[in-house]
Amino acid sequence: MNNIAIFASGSGSNAEQIIQHFSGGSLAQVKVILSNNPKAFVLERAKILDVPSLVFKRQQFYETNQIVDFLKSLGINLIVLAGFMWLVPSNLLMAYQGKIVNIHPALLPAFGGKGMYGHHVHEAVIASKARKSGITIHLVDEVYDHGQILFQAECEVFPDDNAESLANRIHQLEHQHYPQQIERFLRSFAHRP
Ligand code: GRF
Repeated sequence: MNNIAIFASGSGSNAEQIIQHFSGGSLAQVKVILSNNPKAFVLERAKILDVPSLVFKRQQFYETNQIVDFLKSLGINLIVLAGFMWLVPSNLLMAYQGKIVNIHPALLPAFGGKGMYGHHVHEAVIASKARKSGITIHLVDEVYDHGQILFQAECEVFPDDNAESLANRIHQLEHQHYPQQIERFLRSFAHRP
């Protein structure tokens, strides 16, 4: 059984889809939700779905090894970022090299990097007059939105789109693909040396 930890800072609709996708199966389980934001709605979802959660502070995350130790104590072997707003520190990257994935709501390498999150991404896509956008699932490294791309899916951008309508279309695409791509990634572990 693979043990997944999800890091999320906001609503957590992707986290919910991932929890449900794996629940009752034998491939993986979501063991814990971690958040930097005590008010994040993802914590309510975790409660309803009966998944334990942990809220941590900046100092704990960046200046101690507590989070790594916690994840190791739970036997976590995959970390999934789902709307997590903080850069992952190097101790966590080193402990989980090649085992941290993120989803970005645009077609990287375009519209990524610091400050490119939430509605900022969709506003930038619309302002650029791009005719398509999409999602990118990628490995995480020390630079925002930079690691190896694992999967992308596209959708159209319509002339009358605003950030909200585009965000809704992108969210649907995320829900459709993120759980399945995590599953595919986990299955590929078995074929690595
Ligand atoms: C998603 O659009 C994801 O691509 C981005 O943050 C958003 C999180 O949405 N990284 P939710 O909290 O899962 O609803």
